[in-house]
Amino acid sequence: MRAKNIVLIGFMGSGKSSVGHKLASLLGWRFVDTDTLIGKAAGKKINKIFKESGEAHFRSLESQVVKEVASSENQVIACGGGVVLRSENIENLKKNGLIVYLKTSPSKIYDRIKHSKKRPLLDVSDIEGRIKTLLSERENIYESVADVVIDTSDLTIDDVVEKIKLSLS
Ligand code: S3P
Repeated sequence: MRAKNIVLIGFMGSGKSSVGHKLASLLGWRFVDTDTLIGKAAGKKINKIFKESGEAHFRSLESQVVKEVASSENQVIACGGGVVLRSENIENLKKNGLIVYLKTSPSKIYDRIKHSKKRPLLDVSDIEGRIKTLLSERENIYESVADVVIDTSDLTIDDVVEKIKLSLS
């Protein structure tokens, strides 16, 4: 069966947006980023949502956006790293989509996002420690909900896109 959506999950900095953009243009599908849609719906950036209304509110907005997006087809959907924390999100995404986990080592993640100011959950002094803790809490969930797992640590964006395309055939 051919998937109607490709859903990219994985930790912050795992390349979901870059890979998703490229894959969508190759397939001629729409690219959707759940964080972008949440920002649009709330009229403010993710950082501001966390700061003013807290993580629980952000997670509710995320679930609403996921539900809407999951009902359409022919999309590559890049999800925020915490989308797996609510099982209803995964149930919705699985209805029309192939779930692809972009697995990345904590050290690669740290290298890629150490200078980013866009991630409220990593706005702490020990960024590396926080990445390890969050990843260890989530790793099993990412693995267990995924239909396809791709270890991106030593791959380029193009390599990852190619691997996903191969897994579709
Ligand atoms: C989060 C990841 C972020 C964003 C929010 C929370 C998380 O998305 O949704 O900051 O809980 O891992 P990216 O994975 O696109 O950075």
